[in-house]
Amino acid sequence: MDLKEKNIYINKIRSLAKEKNAVIFAHYYTRPEIQECADFIGDSLALAQQATRVQANILVMCGVHFMGETMKILCPEKKVLIPDMNAGCSLADSCKAEDLAAFKAQHPDHMVVSYVNTSAAVKALTDVVVTSSNAKNIVDQLPKDAKIIFGPDHNLGSYINSVTGREMLLWNGACHVHSRFSLEALLELKKANPGVEVLAHPECKAPILAQSDVIGSTKALLEHTIQSSAKRFIIATESGILFEMQRACPDKEFIPVPPEVTEGVGCSCNECEYMRMNTLEKLYECLKNESPEMVVEKETADKAISSIRRMLEMS
Ligand code: 13P
Ligand code: SF4
Repeated sequence: MDLKEKNIYINKIRSLAKEKNAVIFAHYYTRPEIQECADFIGDSLALAQQATRVQANILVMCGVHFMGETMKILCPEKKVLIPDMNAGCSLADSCKAEDLAAFKAQHPDHMVVSYVNTSAAVKALTDVVVTSSNAKNIVDQLPKDAKIIFGPDHNLGSYINSVTGREMLLWNGACHVHSRFSLEALLELKKANPGVEVLAHPECKAPILAQSDVIGSTKALLEHTIQSSAKRFIIATESGILFEMQRACPDKEFIPVPPEVTEGVGCSCNECEYMRMNTLEKLYECLKNESPEMVVEKETADKAISSIRRMLEMS
């Protein structure tokens, strides 16, 4: 899509949103043009918090399926739209509700802390939801003797265990984007750019985190780049965040860590293909037709809401 076409789409979407009293939300990993078009850009925690605050008839979530579900559970009276219902999440898919239910049955004395990257059905089996922004803070608030199952992200869970001194039982799930960063490439980048800080998302594997100076959610990493006096940064997370980093800090340079190249398997870039399913064309059609609409079964939503509310109260 050329610049002229992009601007036409953005204008059409903006005027439709005004006409329909709709608010457009976008995660930092979406395409730059989607972030440009959105009313509100954020990490998973900020998007959930903001959804509960806006006055609107329609909420459009440009992100992935679980983010739309979380929004609908928090705002059941609003119409929640998602440009592509197939925008899933490999991490959320790595924990099926029936498997978690069976694991809980094997550990009846454990409470369940789930990362927000989970289905509504998994949240319904959860005591408290966390995001990468608040996981440490929330786990720190749980009783010292609490036995905890943490899922589904094994990398985030190991990191939280290491910074809280807990021994949570970890689910063996992972995000396919964050687990494929190349340690070898990171070491080469560090060698070529001595003294340049490495910023990483806690979904990355432990050897990547061990080489990082700042570990945090997308929002925390962005804020660090804004506040720091440094001019260059090495970034280990989905590359969509570079758009907002560059927009906020036009005079700074961001060097993305490349993924490992696995012959014939998956994508050889650090992009989340699910997040990229949100396009301007789909966003326009979705607002125009008010479809696809996110629906969460009432029984599941009623159970899931307590674990999400507990997170918001403890954040
Ligand atoms: P944040 O909580 O940092 O927004 O991350 C969400 C996510 O999907 C990371 O892959
Ligand atoms: Fe899920 Fe990974 Fe994509 Fe985040 S980057 S939405 S965890 S698949």
